[in-house]
Amino acid sequence: MRITQIKMITKTGMEVEFKSADPGEAELEIAYLKQCCKETRYLLSEPEDIAYTVESEEKFISDYETSDNSLMLNAYVNGTLIGNGSFAPVRDAKRLSHRCSMGIALFREFCGMGIGELLLNILMEQAKKASFEIMELDVVTTNTNAIRLYEKLGFETIGERKRAIKYKDGTYADELLMVKTLL
Ligand SMILES: CC(C)(COP(=O)(O)OP(=O)(O)OC[C@H]1O[C@@H](n2cnc3c(N)ncnc32)[C@H](O)[C@@H]1OP(=O)(O)O)[C@@H](O)C(=O)NCCC(=O)NCCS
Repeated sequence: MRITQIKMITKTGMEVEFKSADPGEAELEIAYLKQCCKETRYLLSEPEDIAYTVESEEKFISDYETSDNSLMLNAYVNGTLIGNGSFAPVRDAKRLSHRCSMGIALFREFCGMGIGELLLNILMEQAKKASFEIMELDVVTTNTNAIRLYEKLGFETIGERKRAIKYKDGTYADELLMVKTLL
């Protein structure tokens, strides 16, 4: 799916531009991912795991663009990439085709300004347009800011997965499974 440009103003008065990731920005996207994984333990990868080549990332982004039910949406402030959110089918299976999973991450310095809420609202609207009925996500139980955002936008907790994440230092994190009905 492709979105050319949506401009919005946050609750703090900042202009944010949202548009689909472009394969030409593959290098930038890899750098963004590495930085986000460095800044927070709430994502699934260690920074060193982000070892994608520019070619593989170009293909990854381009697959989102050409798909009719997956969206990778970037957020820019003053022309600089500061965050990203995406959705895609939970699995490539006809009987699960009404469910999508969602992920979102902003650079730390842009958190808490209302950008995540704007981004997630666009993702939910586009997922609904793509005929998804349920949006799902997993969130670390201690990620209270993210959980508050999801609850605010109507996501409900349907379960908890103990020891869902194992860090390289041998410690674990539990995750909540949250869903939002888009109908
Ligand atoms: C989680 C994340 C996407 C939320 O986006 P955000 O832009 O920071 O959130 P917003 O500013 O839009 O806040 C929306 C709501 O979330 C809650 N919230 C977010 N940050 C908060 C904070 N620092 N303190 C209290 N509540 C907070 C509030 O309910 C807020 O609504 P309100 O302002 O009306 O009270 C963002 O913080 C982020 O990228 N974090 C790092 C990566 C991550 O954890 N990703 C999610 C993995 S599941």
